[in-house]
Formats: sequence, structure tokens, C-alpha cells
Amino acid sequence: MYVSEAVKSRFSCRAFTEKPVSKELIKEILDVAKQAPSGGNLQPWHIHAISGKKLDQIVSDIESKITDMPMGEKTEYDVYPPNLWEPYRSRRFKCGEDLYKSINIPREDKGARLNQLAKNLCFFGAPVGLFVYIDRKMGPPQWSDVGMFLQTIMLIAREKGLHSCAQEAWAMWHSTVNKHLVVDNTFMLFCGMGIGYADENHPINSWRTDREAVDDFTTFYGFEK
Ligand SMILES: Cc1cc2nc3c(=O)[nH]c(=O)nc-3n(C[C@H](O)[C@H](O)[C@H](O)COP(=O)(O)O)c2cc1C
Repeated sequence: MYVSEAVKSRFSCRAFTEKPVSKELIKEILDVAKQAPSGGNLQPWHIHAISGKKLDQIVSDIESKITDMPMGEKTEYDVYPPNLWEPYRSRRFKCGEDLYKSINIPREDKGARLNQLAKNLCFFGAPVGLFVYIDRKMGPPQWSDVGMFLQTIMLIAREKGLHSCAQEAWAMWHSTVNKHLVVDNTFMLFCGMGIGYADENHPINSWRTDREAVDDFTTFYGFEK
């Protein structure tokens, strides 16, 4: 698979089949993805890979709390800047609208929207979940390094026939997740990532987000002959 095919066929998969993914395969993916670049080669990513009973325990712990705390615990970082402005605000809005439209959830049905949000917390049924941590003393450059590492994982996953979804929704449950893992307060949960085989028939996997044109986000200089 060409890299561009991996890039173009990746999308945020929000419904997975039960087909298992082995530890060996996850290790193989991480072993390639670790070649992702990072400033000063700090490699500031720390991954906890979860499957089987451990995953079930975390999911059921959250299930037992979510009715009382539909928005989870307070996140340790702002997932978005407060009062998001244009053009970002409209992009975020459209993404949410298109997602809910694909599964016929109307804007006013807050309950159904919350139920869909809660599906993040079982990794949308994926057999494997990654929890992605960063040393809390790290700054924006290292967060960007972790992002590059995550995209590399998602692309290698495509090469292996797998799909994925990065999930900041897990940041809403950092204390609960931490309790289930061997992780100390040096590290902050950035996000989760579901990895598995896409449920190709599920309508939530049938839509795609759009992107701005290159000329709208790039300024070219000095290319004229
Ligand atoms: C760091 C990160 C966190 C994300 N968190 C979530 C999430 O919690 N839940 C979710 O459904 N999608 C999440 N997404 C997916 C984005 O909504 C998605 O990448 C974006 O809308 C572009 O769509 P695409 O990935 O299908 O191309 C996340 C993506 C990234 C990169």
C-alpha cells in the first residue's frame, strides 16, 4: 500500500467488528510507528495497550458512573480553546452535525447525542484500545510529536487492514483510566485510540469529513519562474 493510499483510506472509524487483534500485530504496528520523528528525538509518547478483560473492566467501571456523570471528570487540558472562533467553530459544528446525521440523531435529541458520545468509552467496540500519555511537563512541541506518532500508528494500521479512531473523549475519564493502569502522576492522559476492523455496514462509518483546499491554507512564495 502506498503511503497516500493509507492516508486517503484512513478515517475515524466509530464502529468496529469483534474480530480480535493480537498483541503481536499491535506490537508490530508500534514498532514501525516508533520511527516517527520528534524534536531532539525525545520520543515523548507513552502508550498503554489494552485488550480483553482489562478493557472490559475499564468499560464497565465507566458504565457504572456515566449516568451520574455524563460529561465525565473535568479534563486536565482544554480539548478545544474556549469560545472557539471562525473558521474552526463552523468546521467543528459541521463535523458533529454530519456525524449525528449519519445515524439519524436530530440536533435536539440531547439524550441520543450523549449516548453516542458514550460509545467513545468502549472504543466504539474495538478489540484494542491504546491510552496515550505524555509527561505533563512537556510543552506544545512535544504534544505535536505525539500527534505525529499517532498519525503514524493510524497509517501503519491501514497497511495491516485495520482502522482506528483517535479519541480525546477519554481525557474526560482520566482519573478512572489511571486507576486501572500502572501510571503515576508524572504522566497525563492525552487521548485514547480504538484499533480494529471496521464494521463496513454501520452507517456511522459511511460519511467522510471534508478538507479546505491547499491554496486556502498555504501561501506560496518564490515559485514563479
Ligand atoms: C487527537 C484527536 C482526538 C480525537 N478525539 C475524538 C473523539 O474523542 N471522538 C471521536 O469520535 N472522534 C475524535 N477524533 C476524530 C476527529 O473528529 C476526526 O479526526 C476529524 O473529524 C477528521 O475526520 P477523519 O478522521 O474521519 O478524517 C479525534 C481526532 C484526533 C486527531
